[in-house]
Amino acid sequence: MRNLRDVELDGKRVLMRVDFNVPMDKQGNILDDGKMRGALPTIEYVLAHNGKLILMSHLGRPKGKPDPKYSLKGLAPHLKDLLNGAAVSFAEDCIGSEVEEKVNNMKPGEVLLLENLRFRAGEEENDPDFSRQLATLGDIYINDAFGTAHRAHSSTVGVAEYLSAYAGFLMEAEVNMLKSVVESPERPRMAILGGAKVADKLGIIENLLEKMDIILIGGGMANTFLKAQGKNVGKSLLEKDLLNEASRLLDKAEQKKVRLLLPVDVVITGEISADAAATVVGVDKVPDDMMIVDIGPRTIDIYREEINQAKTIIWNGPMGVYEYEQFARGSKEITRAMANAAAVSVIGGGDSAVIAHDLMLEDKITHISTGGGATLEFLEGIKLPGVAACGY
Ligand code: 3PG
Repeated sequence: MRNLRDVELDGKRVLMRVDFNVPMDKQGNILDDGKMRGALPTIEYVLAHNGKLILMSHLGRPKGKPDPKYSLKGLAPHLKDLLNGAAVSFAEDCIGSEVEEKVNNMKPGEVLLLENLRFRAGEEENDPDFSRQLATLGDIYINDAFGTAHRAHSSTVGVAEYLSAYAGFLMEAEVNMLKSVVESPERPRMAILGGAKVADKLGIIENLLEKMDIILIGGGMANTFLKAQGKNVGKSLLEKDLLNEASRLLDKAEQKKVRLLLPVDVVITGEISADAAATVVGVDKVPDDMMIVDIGPRTIDIYREEINQAKTIIWNGPMGVYEYEQFARGSKEITRAMANAAAVSVIGGGDSAVIAHDLMLEDKITHISTGGGATLEFLEGIKLPGVAACGY
């Protein structure tokens, strides 16, 4: 394993992949800078060791050509603030002679943020020529973009063919933390899974059945399990094709003696809107013309009690349509219970992280992962290409 701490950085051009794919509003304001803050320890380390730091990232999915709404330019001033006024400049492209000239003029301790990598088609194609052009900008390469480690792109994999590659501290922390949680000796080990789609989470549940003692299910994905148990879920989001798979996982949980808990009551509504009424019913009482949009208060009590007993907890995916206040209680109460639990707790995925942020409970959670898809794939047991490429 190559360790960044052993590398001489003095005067070196350090090409570093970060995941600055932050949520932004239409005016270009950053809604949550957690991913930027996550990369600060590595950035500060490189600057403190007199490296010339060239930062590269994607933002959104601009489809291989420039699109002003996905420019990284607006992030440069915020990065400067986060670095207490350090010299941060911006390059209008990510490869080419102008970028090379800017890099050549850099002094140790300075930062150059490159324009969105995905403005070039070569990035997502992992095009060797594009990778080589990126690689000419650096003497060494660091990947600190755990959130993008499930993508085999030029900046996450290809560049490592041309430069010595190292994992950044965020990458290291994410991998170590997620691994330690999944394999934690502290029992009971609990996974809380929510969010809309069962399809995305089947592999994770299968893998977690080998590792966890208890799994709490909520959110839209609970509906498919409830239906698989023969319950009526009305107009709720449902993945009909996966009912057999859901039954199989319920059986497997029983065989493995993993307690897989489903809601006993739910919040239902006729429509999802800001002023829609919310009603609580038992899971056996969902009318045909209503849909499930949150876990109910009895379920919250049961889940809270379980969370209190757990020693290791990982949570991914909201318990309901939390964007609307009247359907957000389940997600909020799960977050509060996790914050109060005497357990190692990890939140993965943007939605759950936003809830912890809004409730100002981030400090009470052991680790909030910067990864969405990457965290899920890691939990599925998949070796992430970006992690492998930097020798971690
Ligand atoms: C994320 O937000 O999950 C990462 O930045 C990866 O983005 P992508 O799904 O567009 O590759």
